Amino acid sequence: MTSISQSALATAPIYEAGPKDPWWRHAVIYQIYPRSFADANGDGIGDLPGITSRLDHLQKLGVDAIWLSPFFQSPQKDAGYDVSDYRAVDPLFGDLDDFDAMLKRAHELGLRVIVDLVPNHSSDQHEWFQAALAAAPGSPERERYMFRDGKGANGSQPPNDWKSVFGGRAWTRVTEADGSPGQWYLHLFDSSQPDFNWENPEVRAYFEDVLRFWLDRGVDGFRVDVAHGMIKADGLPDWDAEQAMIAKGDTPAGTPLEELEGDDEPDEDTAPGDGNEGPMWDQDGVHDIYRAWNRVLADYPDDRALAGEAWVHDLERMARYVRSDEMQQTFNFSYLTSKWDAQHLREVVTESLDAFGSVGAPSTWVLSNHDVVRHASRLGLPVPGSLPKGIAADDAQPDERLGLQRARAATLFMLGLPGSSYLYQGEELGLPEHTSLPDDVRQDPGFFRTKGAETGRDGCRVPIPWDPDAPAYGFNETGESWLPQPAGWRKYAASAQYGDPHSTFELYRSMLRLRKEHELGTGSLAWVEAGLEGADAQNSVAFVNGDVLVVLNLEGTPVSLPKGAEVLVSSGELEIKDDVTNVPARTAVWAKLG
Ligand code: GLC
Ligand code: CA
Repeated sequence: MTSISQSALATAPIYEAGPKDPWWRHAVIYQIYPRSFADANGDGIGDLPGITSRLDHLQKLGVDAIWLSPFFQSPQKDAGYDVSDYRAVDPLFGDLDDFDAMLKRAHELGLRVIVDLVPNHSSDQHEWFQAALAAAPGSPERERYMFRDGKGANGSQPPNDWKSVFGGRAWTRVTEADGSPGQWYLHLFDSSQPDFNWENPEVRAYFEDVLRFWLDRGVDGFRVDVAHGMIKADGLPDWDAEQAMIAKGDTPAGTPLEELEGDDEPDEDTAPGDGNEGPMWDQDGVHDIYRAWNRVLADYPDDRALAGEAWVHDLERMARYVRSDEMQQTFNFSYLTSKWDAQHLREVVTESLDAFGSVGAPSTWVLSNHDVVRHASRLGLPVPGSLPKGIAADDAQPDERLGLQRARAATLFMLGLPGSSYLYQGEELGLPEHTSLPDDVRQDPGFFRTKGAETGRDGCRVPIPWDPDAPAYGFNETGESWLPQPAGWRKYAASAQYGDPHSTFELYRSMLRLRKEHELGTGSLAWVEAGLEGADAQNSVAFVNGDVLVVLNLEGTPVSLPKGAEVLVSSGELEIKDDVTNVPARTAVWAKLG
């Protein structure tokens, strides 16, 4: 049994309550993955009219804003992160009128709307890249991308040894207009995603126009894709480390629990450069771009915001993206990759609040997105919280029940933290990863470029179940679905959860309502670890935010709440004995202090 002493509740905060404005300092932002949210025309791929038709679900849930993954014109080689026209809606998703209607409806419902901006690379079908292919080496058309001559006899070797994040090398050789083997172009991702040359002022001017195009239509901001990749080190020095969106050092998948302790020392597998360090990431020059964009947004009223996707491991480097004249937010991937371990969680939260606080920015928090295994499944793995690159049918399978139990607790803990939080569509339904997709339906380029060594991200992108008994669980009316939905998802369907007090949807709804009522998003944080007493105390973590005590019991014996604490919401059932409330393992609670 672990208890919390009254005296410990009076510990000084390590983080003080911040300003209530602007909205992005505390917003809960819900990520919509358009191809999998709702499909209005029944072709099996979600679309903008589908989103509009389901916005009431999000209003009911109580989020403040939505972020839409790309719906722009694209050959869909990387599910829309390969944009061929930044100012057009892909016909798969509808058209600009559908976008305007969606935006209008969202604003009527009080939801802000952030769209995805993909500035590191375009699609190879972008008119600029097509023009570059048709033009000669050294031409202004080629200067918009990263073309270089090859090395070796006849330039047959790539210009350097960089690898693609999706596997294989980061260079592809082109055939010149006269049919001869030609220059090479850089692509940090798929060969269909050539990297722009951000040293070229024409590229900078182009993207400022793109920003204005969407700001003029009324969007509230942008999520900036691969925000740490746009500038490459001078001379493109060799760097042959394997690339990964998530540094291996963050949470080695499948590592035995005992080895998770004290693995901060880089070992052979996690040497610097592994994952997201190297001459292509986090170069100081990227910050000039964000300072310029900050000025573009400042021309518009109503606090528009930029949220950077920068997979930068070091939190202090990460905080540089949100200095007051740059972006407003950056995703906290250190939090997403944190282990299911009280000590580690406490450290990551403290470091995040310190690092972001030192530049006057709020922290953000996130547990799931379209690039990682859903947290309800990650937390059900033999090493809870490990982060494999997808889960296939012949891999160790997550425990669905334990995973969901831990996920609900993890989310309750997260939403109690001061700052802004991101939710990924479906997590409010408790949705697990699809872990048995057949290989022949997979679409993630990472799966193909690694020849299946990486399962990839399709398992977290499966269309949402809305109604238990409708075709495709109500994703549309035809039953088509671009990825098959698993059998057994009836119980996760939204309409089956509305009004059921034990459902994950109603839990999320209560959390979001109480979070507002108690102003937790702009609140403070004081750890009560010193007050956690008992042999098993290291398995729990607790803090006070304003008048709310947040307790997360990860795996330990029950934690008893101090007398007089009134439970506001809990992620699972509590034990009440002799007037004392106990929080069992894998459970979190918010309690109001008297
Ligand atoms: C970002 C996106 C990911 C995409 C990649 C390349 O990391 O989140 O989905 O594949 O960029 O654009
Ligand atoms: Ca559709």
